[in-house]
Amino acid sequence: MKRVVLDRYPDGSPVRSDFRVEEVDVPPVGDGEFLVRTLFLGIEPRQRPMLNPTTDDNRPMRPYGAPCGPGRVIPGSALGEVVESRHPGYQSGDLVEGFWGWCEYEASDGSPHPTNNPAGIQVRDRSLGDPQHHLGLLGLPGITAYLAVESEGRVSAGDTVVVTTAAGMVGSIAAQLCQLAGAKVVGVTSTAEKCRYLLDELNLDGAIGYRAAEDLGEAVSAACPDGIDYFFDNCGGEISAAIVPHLNERGRYTGCGFVANYNELKWGQSDHFRGMFSVHEHVAEYPRARRALAELFDSGELSYRMTIFEGIERAPRALIDLLAGKNIGKYLVRVSP
Ligand SMILES: NC(=O)c1ccc[n+]([C@@H]2O[C@H](COP(=O)([O-])OP(=O)(O)OC[C@H]3O[C@@H](n4cnc5c(N)ncnc54)[C@H](OP(=O)(O)O)[C@@H]3O)[C@@H](O)[C@H]2O)c1
Repeated sequence: MKRVVLDRYPDGSPVRSDFRVEEVDVPPVGDGEFLVRTLFLGIEPRQRPMLNPTTDDNRPMRPYGAPCGPGRVIPGSALGEVVESRHPGYQSGDLVEGFWGWCEYEASDGSPHPTNNPAGIQVRDRSLGDPQHHLGLLGLPGITAYLAVESEGRVSAGDTVVVTTAAGMVGSIAAQLCQLAGAKVVGVTSTAEKCRYLLDELNLDGAIGYRAAEDLGEAVSAACPDGIDYFFDNCGGEISAAIVPHLNERGRYTGCGFVANYNELKWGQSDHFRGMFSVHEHVAEYPRARRALAELFDSGELSYRMTIFEGIERAPRALIDLLAGKNIGKYLVRVSP
């Protein structure tokens, strides 16, 4: 089977030669284990900090999970089908989702990983949607948007909401959920093409392109004359710093992600994430959120875009492009048909 491993720690933005494709034997299946054939990989920004060098104590960087050193398989969200089972909880033919990473086959006992995947490998209900949705809308990105907006946004009609990386997977779902709750929603993103997507396809009330804006703070002020009641932040850094001063006195803030900092983050910097929303702390809520999201999608109230890269060898390219902001919505890699 093929797998993709880290060849060397990336220096800043990752490049293709930081990764290596290898051919190895399919792993044996022990007692209490099952073998999964990977169907899709979900490409996510949180994979980037995992590729940074470890400190001596090798501490996991909550909430981003354990480090991946050179020679190790790139960790990441994956969807697959059980092809052989010696585990009573998993049957051949089950559709399963987990965080086993960039390999064509994985042998596992399905148990949770404390930081990378506290839910463990879960059997998915095929009736909720096509398999690829289980890493996007019905996967952790969709669930994150749903549970963060519900628990921290508490959005009601008349609120003004700002969402960063609004054309991305989490951002586009969060923005639409806030709009469904009756809020005026302004999305912040990089390019004019993405701004058009926010306005023409998602029908948001406003879109700000931070690259073109001479003064992002002024652009926010103009788009949100009554201030911001809820800020759903996916990016951190200077962009977030320009928006925070516009929060109203009793405004709510979700620190969902800090992609602007992921290239530089060092292990042991978990203070950086204090107060951050972490979907991993809400595992018991996943089934409820997934059902609600599937209903909203089926009724046409939610939409999102998806791009599929063909073949596991394309996974590094997909991650490099995601971190360069080329994606609209979800990036997936199809590993097998
Ligand atoms: N807290 C949780 O439990 C949880 C769970 C899932 C995801 N997340 C976080 O949610 C955020 C969005 O994740 P996603 O999977 O939906 O990814 P995404 O937004 O679809 O893709 C990443 C986006 O980040 C932006 N970006 C990339 N590099 C950047 C940089 N240096 N500075 C500023 N923006 C940059 C780009 O958008 P623009 O072109 O718009 O800049 C890019 O499209 C991430 O921060 C992720 O870690 C958090």
